Amino acid sequence: MTPLGTPLSPTATRAMLLGSGELGKEVLIALQRLGVETIAVDRYENAPGQQVAHHARTIAMSDPAQLKALIEAEKPQLVVPEIEAIATPMLQQLEDAGTVRVIPTARAARLTMDREGIRRLAAETLRLPTSPYKFCDSLAELQAAIDAGIGFPCIVKPVMSSSGKGQSRIDGPADVQKAWDYAMAGGRVSHGRVIVEGFIDFDYEITLLTVRALGADGTVQTQFCAPIGHVQVSGDYVESWQPHPMAPAALEKAQQIAQAVTADLGGQGLFGVELFVKGEEVWFSEVSPRPHDTGMVTMATQWQNEFELHARAILGLPVDTALKSPGASSVIYGGVDAQGIVFDGVAHALQVPGSDVRLFGKPESFVKRRMGVALAHAADVETARRNAKEAASRVKPRVA
Ligand SMILES: Nc1ncnc2c1ncn2[C@@H]1O[C@H](COP(=O)(O)OP(=O)(O)OP(=O)(O)O)[C@@H](O)[C@H]1O
Ligand SMILES: [Mg+2]
Repeated sequence: MTPLGTPLSPTATRAMLLGSGELGKEVLIALQRLGVETIAVDRYENAPGQQVAHHARTIAMSDPAQLKALIEAEKPQLVVPEIEAIATPMLQQLEDAGTVRVIPTARAARLTMDREGIRRLAAETLRLPTSPYKFCDSLAELQAAIDAGIGFPCIVKPVMSSSGKGQSRIDGPADVQKAWDYAMAGGRVSHGRVIVEGFIDFDYEITLLTVRALGADGTVQTQFCAPIGHVQVSGDYVESWQPHPMAPAALEKAQQIAQAVTADLGGQGLFGVELFVKGEEVWFSEVSPRPHDTGMVTMATQWQNEFELHARAILGLPVDTALKSPGASSVIYGGVDAQGIVFDGVAHALQVPGSDVRLFGKPESFVKRRMGVALAHAADVETARRNAKEAASRVKPRVA
């Protein structure tokens, strides 16, 4: 590994974040702390990460020509995708040409940008347990897939979507058309393709943060954080906690699955592996080759949070995944559609024992937009969850 340089000088180590929301902002802060020169890219101005980076650039990251031009102009050594909606084939070209190093790899960014690449890799190539699934390009194909074995209940998701957008559950024949129409309206690009998955009646779901970082011998080693439990409402995370207790056999299976999928995706960095658990049975759901929203809890629970782990791993530095304290996170939604909102009650929120608050600084609020997160550490997870929720509820966003 080349030495770390001095930012804004010819020796600088330069990293470009593609996506500068709340997760990118924390990665940028972690990189800044190691003296990395940062370039924060997003599709809109004053995105959270752009407010803390050395340089801010605004482009359509899904446009290959714009992406190529920016990377060639800025010449970062590291390109760190923080969202899925990026022209990943272009990243692959630039990586193949030796122009940049993509984190963790251009292939990982490409395979995880839509549900099909990663699901086929996990289920068909790696033979990991997943829900039964089928990809469909029309309402008729969706109906046929359900009739041919997926059955009810099942879940329909656009292949290109995140945070539960366009996703719905089908409980019986009457819901099929509605789910199809909802998916068509909610996908990231009108692409017309969905995955239908058999419903897994899990006891709980976890995110297993998995880090591929260099060990003392210079080879990549895989390390795991303690499991993170979370609650999703309409496919979007509202609450998470760490550690989530697991039967030893289930934890072992979860780690084996995470090891297998991250080893195949390769490179260095932190991954969020989403898993469903029922008793000792574990199913792979999906993986982010980057910090995970449910992992924001690690800002309260680990010596090195998921963003610091990612920053260290990509720079070839050692990592420590140890837990510091049980803790929890609870999302603060905008609650209003407005620009430049204000937050009442932050002092009241911080009076909750062991609590902390992050306000992301997004220029525009929507009712269901994630504008901040409350964190809490406590002697046990139950107390931490209660306190994080309490702190979140005390923060009151409003129109200025
Ligand atoms: N096959 C399934 N069986 C049961 N529940 C499921 C299934 N698929 C998804 N879910 C539920 O919906 C949530 C969101 O699904 P998924 O992670 O695939 O969507 P997403 O849009 O990528 O969400 P995010 O971007 O927030 O991770 C899951 O965390 C889980 O709670
Ligand atoms: Mg998910």
